[in-house]
Amino acid sequence: IEFGLIPEERYDDVIHHLRNNFFADEPLNHAVSLCRPGEPHAELEEHSLTTLRDGLSQMAVHTDTDQIIGVALNGIQRPGDIATAQAKLKTMADMKFRQIFDLLYGVNKRLDLFKLHGVDRIFECRILSVDKRFRSRGLARELLKRSEITARESGFKVFKEDATGLFSQRVAESLGLKTVCQIRYSDYTAEGTGEVVFKTPSPHDTLKIMVKVLQ
Ligand code: ACO
Repeated sequence: IEFGLIPEERYDDVIHHLRNNFFADEPLNHAVSLCRPGEPHAELEEHSLTTLRDGLSQMAVHTDTDQIIGVALNGIQRPGDIATAQAKLKTMADMKFRQIFDLLYGVNKRLDLFKLHGVDRIFECRILSVDKRFRSRGLARELLKRSEITARESGFKVFKEDATGLFSQRVAESLGLKTVCQIRYSDYTAEGTGEVVFKTPSPHDTLKIMVKVLQ
């Protein structure tokens, strides 16, 4: 297995990997049945490509097959980005996608990590995904570790991940990220009906916003 920054010529391969391993499987996507394994998802693909274009994302490639078997898609967040994204979200047709990002943008906006840390850009790991056939071997940990190195080399002070499931939380904890905010999915209910919005599969019961301050 080889690791490296993701070059533009591999963006299509990354999307292919995500369709098969992330779009249906990530706990919040799974909870709302966002799509079936292998299916495309226009909004998530745009989100992924926008992130890739920041040039900070890492991949793991299986050298025998040249297949991408894991990625950490990392993007730069700047003040005002969330408000812009929230406004755009309101124009989107996919209500399931909107539910997920309503939660993530809402929590992040309230946290205001820019003010808290006195920074004007944050390094954000937005998508951590490993091929189903290669999970539980430390690949996600290696991808996140290399992402942290990229963040340091690029001069970021704040390294962040919105970890939506237990496994990504374990990976982040093992690299020293601290939980700065958490929401139990069972406590996150819809206005009006009071129904739990995300019935996530066990053992993924909490969203954790996790941060490491890079010295
Ligand atoms: N059962 C129990 N524990 C597991 C399992 C499992 N099926 N899979 C992983 N773990 C544990 C590992 O033992 C390890 O914990 P430990 O260090 O305490 O032993 C930790 O969870 C994961 O370690 P890795 O092997 O580095 O993780 P892996 O390469 O398997 O990838 C990932 C983890 C990326 C979460 C993978 O399961 C995946 O792609 N899931 C679907 C997409 C997803 O949920 N991504 C994260 C969402 S948050 C975000 O994207 C920012």
